Amino acid sequence: MIGCHWLGFLFLPLLYLSGTAAFDESLLKKCAQSGFCHRNREYAKNISETGGSYYSIERGSVRYDDDRHTVTADILKRIPRSEGGDKIVVLPFTLDLLNGSQVRFTIDEKREVDDFSDMLTTYRYNETSTWCLVDPDHLGVKHSDSLRIKNPSFWNKDYISIYDVQTDLRVVLQLAHFSLKVYRHENLQVTINDRSFLNVEHLRSKDEQEQNLVPEEVKFDSFYDSFAYASTDSLPFGPESVALDITFHNYQNVYGIPEHPDHLKLRDTSGGEPYRMFNADVFEYTVNSVMPTYGSIPFMVSNRPGSSVGVFWMNSADTWIDIKYGELDTGTHWISETGIVDVILFFEDSPLKVTESFTNLSGRPALPPLSSIGYHQCRWNYNDATDVLTVNSEMDKAQMPYDFIWLDLEYTDNKKYFTWKPDAFPNPLSLLSKLAQFGRNMVVLIDPHLKVNYEISDHYEEAGSTIKNKHGDSFHGQCWPGESVWIDTFSSKAQKLWAGFFQTFIEGAKNLFIWNDMNEPSVFDGPETTAPKDLIHYGNFEHRSVHNLYGRTFHEATYKALIERYVHEDKRAFVLTRSFFAGSQRTAASWTGDNAANWDYLKISIPMILSSNIAGMPFIGADVGGFSGDPQTELLVRWYQTGIWYPFFRGHAHIETKRREPYLLPEPAKSIVRESLKLRYALLPTLYTAFHDANVSGIPIMNPMFYVKPNLEDVYSIDDQFYVGQHGILVKPITTKNVTKTTIYFPPGKYYNYHNFDAFTLSSGDYVSVKAELDEIPIFLEGGHIITRRDRFRRSSKLMANDPFTLVVAPDIDGYAQGTLYYDDGETFAYQRGEYLKVEFTFKDFKISGKVIHMSSKFANLSIERIVIPKLSSLNIKETINVEQNNKKWMSSVKNAENSYVIQNTQINLGYPWTIQL
Ligand code: NOJ
Repeated sequence: MIGCHWLGFLFLPLLYLSGTAAFDESLLKKCAQSGFCHRNREYAKNISETGGSYYSIERGSVRYDDDRHTVTADILKRIPRSEGGDKIVVLPFTLDLLNGSQVRFTIDEKREVDDFSDMLTTYRYNETSTWCLVDPDHLGVKHSDSLRIKNPSFWNKDYISIYDVQTDLRVVLQLAHFSLKVYRHENLQVTINDRSFLNVEHLRSKDEQEQNLVPEEVKFDSFYDSFAYASTDSLPFGPESVALDITFHNYQNVYGIPEHPDHLKLRDTSGGEPYRMFNADVFEYTVNSVMPTYGSIPFMVSNRPGSSVGVFWMNSADTWIDIKYGELDTGTHWISETGIVDVILFFEDSPLKVTESFTNLSGRPALPPLSSIGYHQCRWNYNDATDVLTVNSEMDKAQMPYDFIWLDLEYTDNKKYFTWKPDAFPNPLSLLSKLAQFGRNMVVLIDPHLKVNYEISDHYEEAGSTIKNKHGDSFHGQCWPGESVWIDTFSSKAQKLWAGFFQTFIEGAKNLFIWNDMNEPSVFDGPETTAPKDLIHYGNFEHRSVHNLYGRTFHEATYKALIERYVHEDKRAFVLTRSFFAGSQRTAASWTGDNAANWDYLKISIPMILSSNIAGMPFIGADVGGFSGDPQTELLVRWYQTGIWYPFFRGHAHIETKRREPYLLPEPAKSIVRESLKLRYALLPTLYTAFHDANVSGIPIMNPMFYVKPNLEDVYSIDDQFYVGQHGILVKPITTKNVTKTTIYFPPGKYYNYHNFDAFTLSSGDYVSVKAELDEIPIFLEGGHIITRRDRFRRSSKLMANDPFTLVVAPDIDGYAQGTLYYDDGETFAYQRGEYLKVEFTFKDFKISGKVIHMSSKFANLSIERIVIPKLSSLNIKETINVEQNNKKWMSSVKNAENSYVIQNTQINLGYPWTIQL
């Protein structure tokens, strides 16, 4: 089977055989086919023409809570009527200033009628923020003492102004024609409802529809869905979308809102489709498009020299976003099918700070097991235990390091999760322990759909913990096992049951981890390849309100189950999820889903991964080689050369493709890929340090150029080159066929070719042509950094645990460089109890030195064996050099290479300060 969805099944094989990778887009709605998207776009167009405004704050309702610094008020929606006076709808509003530099506001609806449905709660779903925020009640938020609220006599004036003296942030709330303006350093940054697109489709019955519309509204698909695959949607609450516009003043770019197969800098959507966030199974999604894919993080960033803003739209329903670049400003229009308006705005000096603040609220990415940032070898499917062990030994024979081997769907007994196909995997524990001998791990797939009529699904149905249909019965649909039910992980009972199954499934295992696939959820016979929106979740709310969140609840249940299962070993868990939402970074890694073996998908993988990185979800990759289709050798080589930079690095292939494990490649491709894999492993210390940085401050692992050079406007649209962590490694992988050279944009500074230490200096940023033969990845070290490597070849990361490190020093034009190394046991949570090593290296005045920031005795024996330093004009190193540590001095030999010196056999102990004067 080629396609991952029922409706598309008939179309995809043809496309696949003709070699054209493409998703059948007719399966997904366009904005004009989506009732609420179409209605809001029309509303926006009409209101721009009429200049109407139906939303104002009632002065008498305004309250200011001194303790919490929260403003509450009622926004009144006033619908003019020819008879009986205006209809007034009350929309409770709140406004908070968080941590001095974030502004949160919410708009809800007071719903008086509660007889719309027996099955559902009437209130608008308002708990997305509870999932999104680590501290939803802001108990840990700093409410600054320096807040001043101007205009306490609200009733006299048209606005309220709140000012934070410390951060110089001013929020002005306009009452008569509702709007919110935020100034930083007296500079207007953002306006909410600048263009009057605020639209809350309040509750009404079908019979009352006519009296409830303002003149600019249209009625399209308010109470039924005319889209062919969604016509059974009962839309019990009728139209209930929320929408508003957010204008970024003097900003000419927006980024983020993953996941879309598009450029990093988001496009102007006027005259085209808006970006859509709606988690869906989109086999061979269309590259360079705004279509939704498997995950959504409704977080957007905008940047200009010296100042950056962010928007977090905390709504988990189907959402569309229009973008319009003006001459000075950027206008955005956010449209969600249901739920409330719940938005946090961020104001900082740089985009890095915005992401940092965003993850401070939404959660930092987990520090994963060190092994999981090694290479993952996956395929749909490795057929049996012998197959697995053969791949394992072939990788060894080819001297190709790897850490994880994966079992896709077919390892199960008839697609029943928590079982193993008896003939193929008669003794999973013995297989796992054989892999463990090489320091290796295994991942198996467990999806949220459960085949009907077997122990696990019976349990769930009996416990009432499956997702329900609109009649309140267990929902049945089609997925891999045929007829299936879906676990409702919004229920804590369902989560507990899940954890219980894991206890027995992997009893005795030490190196087994889990892949959660198809959790958008994918429903083969469902509308738009997913679950009907009128399904009902625990808590009596519709799937419509939480669609984009569902996948996260599922992978979190798996994460918790694994943590519980491995509690005695104190082990960190590794979970891969296909579907994600804001907050997923706390527990899971992800990948960009079903791409195909062609150059377009390789190219687009970079901006896709960068977008997720800036949205706080850095542990992400793309299927190396392309999931469907058979990559030609050149493409596979280039994909490995790109994949080694993905934070999550996995080769994967569709069941109908030819085998393509890297050891099967012909020479010289095989050797080239081997070198790439070795490079990834050599750089694990630097990468792991970047993962640690992400864990403590949420910053990206793979960085867009503008995240490192936020004041350099030349780099704002670059998305085919990137920096690794904050370590000065600048890479531009080759993603085009038949290429032997490329041009790279270098910001001003000094650079070293990573491979040969050829150095050059640029006083202003410029494009430079560089060689890129098939065996070359353009990698440069930016002057100012010291990176850490481990150069000894081992079969897996675990076997590197005691290896010494190599330092590579790349001085800037002033002869200065600095770097950090973080290290821990890579497996347990002991690092949270202080068992880790953090060391800082500096190169200044021709002296290299190491300073210990934190040291746990466990790592006392780790050492530096080698230091590489480029030849600087005023540097002349002899054949030996003095190393000083702990009041001792000894000589190390120096190798005089072409462009560098290599100080060898240094025997420096990482746990104590040291110096080498050159
Ligand atoms: C869809 C996933 O995207 C793909 O990676 C996997 O191989 C198949 N499901 C089968 O489980």
